[in-house]
Amino acid sequence: MIGVYDSGEGGKSVLKELVKLIPSEDYIYYGDSAYCPYGPKKPGFIIERASRITEFLISKGCSIIVVACNTATAAAISYLREHYPVPFVGMEPAIKPALLHSRSGVVGVLATAGTFKGRLYLDTLARFSGNVKVIERIGEGLVETVEKGILDGPDVERLIHNCIDPMLEAGADHIVLGCTHYPFLQPVIERIAGTGVTVINPAPAVARQTLRILEQTKETEPSTRKGSVQYFYSSKE
Ligand code: DGL
Repeated sequence: MIGVYDSGEGGKSVLKELVKLIPSEDYIYYGDSAYCPYGPKKPGFIIERASRITEFLISKGCSIIVVACNTATAAAISYLREHYPVPFVGMEPAIKPALLHSRSGVVGVLATAGTFKGRLYLDTLARFSGNVKVIERIGEGLVETVEKGILDGPDVERLIHNCIDPMLEAGADHIVLGCTHYPFLQPVIERIAGTGVTVINPAPAVARQTLRILEQTKETEPSTRKGSVQYFYSSKE
């Protein structure tokens, strides 16, 4: 059983890639909707939520947990790895491929405030940015619109223009989606960005990393059985 968790609906962009790549597994998806958004919250609070959700997922039989949330990965993954006996897969802030492949020398990154403060993001930026200019924008309002299931239309376009116009004006040729909610808006982002801009969704790479871990930990052969997905959501007491 693989546990997949996010602050809300965003992690389903990762779940989709997992089910596509590893359809024979059973999944439990946990959306922490009662406490969404995580972006502006303090790391201590996110660690507390991550611990409770991890305990729930382990109690349900999960033997691998995918933290399908960049903000929770930034705040809590080191803590989780130290305190719980299962492997954790976190979100990679996929800026490395963007930095390495940029021809214009300008890369845009869309993420939450919490993700931009994360050590992994800052370390990757320091190691690979070289001469590339990185334009960071918090995706103001994007998580909320995805939570409401509003994925297109004039209001969504306005929010996306606010976030990515400064990147496009500066000549960005890559835009990194550093929050698992944003791939749900990828068609609109690509439409506004135009064909010269590559939009990077890290979810497929995270699914491949989960498969590698599964192969290392599993004794059984890959099977052709069809797996299942169960969904759980938090509610405020
Ligand atoms: N989907 C999450 C992420 O990848 C969290 C967004 C939020 O709750 O603010 O960062």
